Amino acid sequence: MLTGIEVEGSIIAEELTYGATNYASLPVVLTKGKGTEVWDIRGNRFLDFMSAYSAANLGHCHPRIVQVVSEQAARLGVVSRAFHHDRLGAFLKRACDATGMDKALPMNSGAEAVETAIKAARKWAYEVKGVKPGRAEIVCCNRNFHGRTMGMISMSSSTQNRSGFGPYLRGFLHVPFGDVDALENAITNNTAAFVVEPIQGEAGVVLPPPEYLHKCEEICRRNNVLLIVDEIQTGLGRAGHMLACNAQGVKPDAVCLGKALGGGVVPVSLFLARQEVMDVFQPGDHGSTFGGYPIAAAVGIEALQIVEDESLCERSMRVGKSLKSRLEEIRADSIVEVRGQGLMIGLEVKGGRNPAKRLALALMSNGILCKDVNQTTLRLAPPLNVHVDHVEEFLNVFAEEVAKLESS
Ligand SMILES: Cc1ncc(COP(=O)(O)O)c(C=O)c1O
Repeated sequence: MLTGIEVEGSIIAEELTYGATNYASLPVVLTKGKGTEVWDIRGNRFLDFMSAYSAANLGHCHPRIVQVVSEQAARLGVVSRAFHHDRLGAFLKRACDATGMDKALPMNSGAEAVETAIKAARKWAYEVKGVKPGRAEIVCCNRNFHGRTMGMISMSSSTQNRSGFGPYLRGFLHVPFGDVDALENAITNNTAAFVVEPIQGEAGVVLPPPEYLHKCEEICRRNNVLLIVDEIQTGLGRAGHMLACNAQGVKPDAVCLGKALGGGVVPVSLFLARQEVMDVFQPGDHGSTFGGYPIAAAVGIEALQIVEDESLCERSMRVGKSLKSRLEEIRADSIVEVRGQGLMIGLEVKGGRNPAKRLALALMSNGILCKDVNQTTLRLAPPLNVHVDHVEEFLNVFAEEVAKLESS
């Protein structure tokens, strides 16, 4: 009979033998989850302070989501958009109500939602704004992350994300995140849209200066440019609001949602927009076989309802504030900065090579899962309904590991 370590080793080996090496996963094999807790194949229990890059904002296997998935799967799975089904309209209405948008187009992944945004913005530029065919430009930010498709890496400024995959899509201009003058200067008569994350998660939880989005909105309005906000990571409570851009009273022309919209169980994304923008799409212009399928729609409705019923936006803001201030107290020489909003927190770690990854590995050996986001930033993003006891448990382990870092 194999030991737990041998089983774990053989599962990882199988994945590495038959899978592409496009991820460098930490060496743990998870098999079960409940709320903030997950268990590995060896029976070890962890606290998940990463939440699948915010896809598991509701915690693992939320009972209401599990029930909706099983009921819907037993009733009707996929029909494609060749036919109507009885859950889609209610899902789109619920999402529009939650975000203040007029219409929504369902896709599956976050990257597909932003791809949809780019197609909508280009077509809007030609049909509504009057840009000459083939000339539309999209302004985006340095160090953005919108996904991994060809369109998204064409928008990326990261050499690692782009290198080896050219030729890229044309028509993207980059400006520094947080710099409103640069945005103003980049806009021409051909500019269709400015696409921006309210907080840059993958760049290392980077917050823009106060009022940034508000000023961007004003610049976009004045120049007849669409403001498209990628809330795939920040939205649905992660940054303490239904949409992070709500915090600044900004009303964008379009919004992208994903990750947590699938309740931590299925991939669900949406491109939401003002009517005038969405109306550029005609039958056959765009779509996806599984986009908005009955299970996705049923789960999406329930996920949005849970955010409301469990007051997860307020909770994220409240627990995030207290977690940040406790982290500030623990802060020592090796933790240079604690930043973030709601339960989207970045810790700037210093000392030696890859200090954030080393701290993540040390925490993992002590039952806490989180992940470095670049060499020096450790990202903390527990489920939004994380129990206060689990926050305390995390803080105790974290304080011990920081003390060890300091003395090493
Ligand atoms: C802001 C943002 N946009 C888009 C994406 C891409 O989402 P997906 O991995 O579902 O394609 C991500 C994923 O991390 C993201 O953080």
